[in-house]
Amino acid sequence: MDAQQTLRTEVEQLVRVHGRGRTALMPILQDLNRAHSYISEDAMLAVSDALNVPRAEVYGVATFYSYFSVKPRGVYVIRVCRTISCAKQPDYHPAIAALFDELGIGFGETSSDGIFSLEQTNCAGMCDQGPAMVVNDDAHIHLTEASVRTILNDYRHKAQAAQSAKKAQ
Ligand code: FES
Repeated sequence: MDAQQTLRTEVEQLVRVHGRGRTALMPILQDLNRAHSYISEDAMLAVSDALNVPRAEVYGVATFYSYFSVKPRGVYVIRVCRTISCAKQPDYHPAIAALFDELGIGFGETSSDGIFSLEQTNCAGMCDQGPAMVVNDDAHIHLTEASVRTILNDYRHKAQAAQSAKKAQ
């Protein structure tokens, strides 16, 4: 089965879960975005065909929400809160500097090993526990320079273990 057929099969499986109506568009895009870290052109096409929703509409939804990406991203997408309650914390700037230093990238970029993408977000709902960031679906609070380095190392090891397991299959 080629990559495009695999994708269409995946979309059909999601249609079985979420239904074929227009209301299924968002949950299907969310699942694809979560599974692949982004929504590819081929994925948008497969969703459009499966739901019988115009391609322009699928593309419009996929590009409207900042949670979605239509560009390839790392296995782990880091979203750092940039809103004032977090940004005024004394540990905020040291934590950001540690992110830049550990990853070797800035906001809007993906690390060369393909493991991390770094983004900023507005309030992530943990204002009294900032500085805060979300990595995929996991929240991390009370960030410090040291905790950022530990958190990134944990994810790096997880990604490397997953890559090794995949190679061994
Ligand atoms: S201000 Fe950062 S989580 Fe609300």
